[in-house]
Amino acid sequence: MSRTLLVTSALPYANGSIHLGHMVEHIQTDIWVRHQRMRGHTVYLVCADDTHGTPVMLAAEAQGITPEQMIEKARAEHMRDFAGFHIQHDLYYSTHSPETREYAEEIYNRLKTEGLISIRPIEQLYDPARGMFLPDRFIKGECPRCHAKDQYGDNCEVCGASYAPTDLINPVSAVSGATPVRKTSEHHFFRLGACETFLREWTRSGTIPEEAANKLDEWFDAGLTDWDISRDAPYFGFEIPGAPNKFFYVWLDAPIGYIGTFRKLASERGLDFDAFWKKGSTTELYHFIGKDILYFHSLFWPAMLECSGFRTPTRLFVHGFLTVNGQKMSKSRGSFITAGNYLRHLDPEYLRYYYAAKLNAGMDDIDLNLDDFVARVNSDLVGKYVNIASRCAGFIAKRFDGQLAARLHPDAEALATRFYAQAESIAALYDAREFGKAVREIMELADAANQFVDTARPWELAKEESARDALQQVCTGALEMFRLLTLFLKPVLPVMAQKVEAFLDIPALDWRQASAEASLAGRRIHPYQHLVTRIDPKQVEALVAASKELAAPAPAAPAKPEPAALPAVSETIGIDDFSRIDLRVARIVAAEAVPEADKLLKLTLDIGLEQRTVFAGIKSAYAPEQLVGRLTVMVANLSPRKMRFGESQGMVLAAGDGNGLYLLSPDSGATPGLRIK
Ligand code: 2FM
Ligand code: ZN
Repeated sequence: MSRTLLVTSALPYANGSIHLGHMVEHIQTDIWVRHQRMRGHTVYLVCADDTHGTPVMLAAEAQGITPEQMIEKARAEHMRDFAGFHIQHDLYYSTHSPETREYAEEIYNRLKTEGLISIRPIEQLYDPARGMFLPDRFIKGECPRCHAKDQYGDNCEVCGASYAPTDLINPVSAVSGATPVRKTSEHHFFRLGACETFLREWTRSGTIPEEAANKLDEWFDAGLTDWDISRDAPYFGFEIPGAPNKFFYVWLDAPIGYIGTFRKLASERGLDFDAFWKKGSTTELYHFIGKDILYFHSLFWPAMLECSGFRTPTRLFVHGFLTVNGQKMSKSRGSFITAGNYLRHLDPEYLRYYYAAKLNAGMDDIDLNLDDFVARVNSDLVGKYVNIASRCAGFIAKRFDGQLAARLHPDAEALATRFYAQAESIAALYDAREFGKAVREIMELADAANQFVDTARPWELAKEESARDALQQVCTGALEMFRLLTLFLKPVLPVMAQKVEAFLDIPALDWRQASAEASLAGRRIHPYQHLVTRIDPKQVEALVAASKELAAPAPAAPAKPEPAALPAVSETIGIDDFSRIDLRVARIVAAEAVPEADKLLKLTLDIGLEQRTVFAGIKSAYAPEQLVGRLTVMVANLSPRKMRFGESQGMVLAAGDGNGLYLLSPDSGATPGLRIK
């Protein structure tokens, strides 16, 4: 029976690069999805960048761009990386979308109507210098238990203690270095405890792995506490309806990004949205996630959906973490490998194959051992699988002009029958996400095919004209087995499979063709083209070296020249004189170099009520693209000045000492047009 499935991978954060740890999940998802499509099911695979939160806001600020610019850049990079690994998304979108905002608001409003939102004040640490509440990870201090210094606000890496950031001794804001103060503000909470009965049942109904359900029992026993779903401004996210300056916590809208992204896809493709998300819908919904985010996906997420009239996931597929050479990925060892860097050195299908060989349905960690990676790819893909075709295809091209025999050699026929018979069990292993076992079975078949060629010795048959028919039948038999191995490996090696389909001149392979009816016998094939190259260990060494280099801290800034002698402070002016200067917060919405002027950039500034053009002498210090989106301060009531290139309608403020030039910026959160006093 044909089924309809919506599948997701966890949404990667927009403030980091995709690395080989992410790729475990995305490759696992993609293999499963491709397999389901080859079974004839309709599958939609969606993913998106997880764009909101304080880290994104601060990272954008550090780069001197707006969060919107940062997340667009990240999305383009992430899409390029996933495409590079042949991940076949139907849509890769963003949580910063009108669709996700709409559903975040809708779900929040429905929870509120159900009486599941409570609002109460809480006290948190606040950075008085930056004017913001500090997430736990942005506070450092002394562990209240073991007194280790420089520990994060949530737990101690030395003694493992968990605590509230307000318990830290001598806390310091990692944002500004200021000493945080305690400050109270109102927060919105989702009353998770009210959903306990539903959650206990849901988590025991086969939706999550049993080992995960056991873990959840510990959480139930500890008691489900209210979940804090709001954050105060400044925050990059969606404002909560009816609560100015309060934003949805990133983890509230991140999974809603699954819905928002599908909504977008549904609009683009004319799909029935309700059939996928309304309570009681018959389509299936699967989330692939890592075990670190099980808590969010097995408690908050189903509870939110259930209580707001949406359907809940059919199943969560939970995997473990990636280690490289048996250890956590490490930048200094060069084992923190980004997807982009990998793709500059190696074929993505090597990694797809290696991960498939290691993956199973459990939550255990998987190890990428780089020596084993080289050995396995070379021995299995080059030495076993492709070897079958490269040993036989030449004879068919040269001796038979591409024409295959009308029947397989009898020994090959017997063996091919084993291949056809095993197709269902291999498909079942893919279905159950037991990819490692599937690969093992496939490679055993490849071994058997090679043994058949070894025994049949086509190179000997080729020496005798009387063995001409036997040669053609042996090669036809071997190529038929190669066709089946290609079909079995297609979810893992989709591009290789495409090349083989072209070479064998057959339509796209799917599981229906795992039978004698689709045999190659009697067909004509194209000349064999080289399919895969052995990995040279030097390529891996180069990848590791490049990863180390990319991770190394940027070279130290050149020694600063001595500052020019500081000018004496000017003569005093009265407050009245000062208040005649109308200083405004401005956002730079466009910036371009003035080609005819060495020093000038042309800036377009948004000051809330209007836009101004200003020619600023800051070309030596800033590239125009660095400035777009940035906040600065301008003198808004300076008389306009006619210049050769146009009229300058004000002035931006920058400090300079003859060596450097520093454009002034207000703290983030300031809005264009604010007057400076
Ligand atoms: O842990 C993470 O990387 C999160 N960005 C995953 C979010 S998955 C979903 F909930 F959006
Ligand atoms: Zn400690």
